[in-house]
Amino acid sequence: MSSSDIEMAVEHLKRGLTVVFPTETVYGLGADASNPEAVDRIFALKGRPKNRPLIVHVESASRLGEWAEDIPRTAWTLAERFWPGPLTLVLFRRKEVPLEVTGGRETVGIRVPDHPVATSLLRNFGRGIAAPSANRFGRLSPTSSWHVRAVFGDDAGPILEGGPCTYGVESTIVGFVGEAPVLLRPGALSSPILEEFLGVRLLRPDPAREDIALPGSGDGHYQPKTPLEVLPAEKLRSRLLGQVFRGDRMGVLALSSLRELGAEKGDASFQMPGKSSDYARELYAALHFLDQGGVDRILIEAPPDDDAWCAVNDRLKRACHQPPGG
Ligand code: TXA
Ligand code: MG
Repeated sequence: MSSSDIEMAVEHLKRGLTVVFPTETVYGLGADASNPEAVDRIFALKGRPKNRPLIVHVESASRLGEWAEDIPRTAWTLAERFWPGPLTLVLFRRKEVPLEVTGGRETVGIRVPDHPVATSLLRNFGRGIAAPSANRFGRLSPTSSWHVRAVFGDDAGPILEGGPCTYGVESTIVGFVGEAPVLLRPGALSSPILEEFLGVRLLRPDPAREDIALPGSGDGHYQPKTPLEVLPAEKLRSRLLGQVFRGDRMGVLALSSLRELGAEKGDASFQMPGKSSDYARELYAALHFLDQGGVDRILIEAPPDDDAWCAVNDRLKRACHQPPGG
């Protein structure tokens, strides 16, 4: 990544156009967060409903006061400890923050990404960058630049190269009820780590209360085009046995050994890592690969149901959700 690439991207941002940049979680589709027309371009490119808020990326925690007000002490503590890093804080917006960014809400999501290219872009631009993941609405997030190129080509503006993402899953989102932190979206920063640091259990979202619900959280999201199922090892084994007779081509993500499951080792079967953070890093890349690879169905062995796997299980649950009418 040369400084002239960064300069060109900054020029795009100043002109109200979009750019794609790497972060430690996933690639982002960015625009000037202070420019409502630029922000509109993001929604148009993604095909994203306008009421779905965007995260504002800033260079350092010292910029927090430019975007948010009435900031809880707990939020400062978290920012100090985990920024730069894969944590988004949802705070009351300052009135200067365009409603286009917040999806019409009185709160704004903010984070400081931990990636040298993102940092350099933010520093040279000198303002906040609104950025969702650089994929079409509802689809898989990109964890490498070619995932973005395959979908947008040149339509999204310059794509800054940053290699494969370190975490491969989106940031953890934390909101607040007074001082009490709420886990709005499990993500790259695991909730046990946050809870140990804070010494309290994070509240969980309540769909009945708009102040602590994640917008659009009931939707299918992070979906490959190929139908996907998550199932226990035993069921997976019998499905693979049955497939031999039906002749469907299955893509498999296994935690048990492929041989035990009766899956053939090959292009469409992945032996996934047993550690949740390693699994998360490889998940979207594996799904992108299978989605391009002409399999009829993707079968995924269910990971353990505990807090360390919370982000992975959340994404898998959404990936197999089929919206009404398919
Ligand atoms: O890791 C990430 O967070 C990546 C990288 C690019 O930073 N970004 C990302 O953005 O995942 P996106 O737009 O795909 O997901 C952001 C989610 C929104 O869907 C929304 O649920 C939540 O963040 N969000 C943003 N602002 C919010 C707000 N004011 N209140 C509640 N939720 C908010
Ligand atoms: Mg997204």
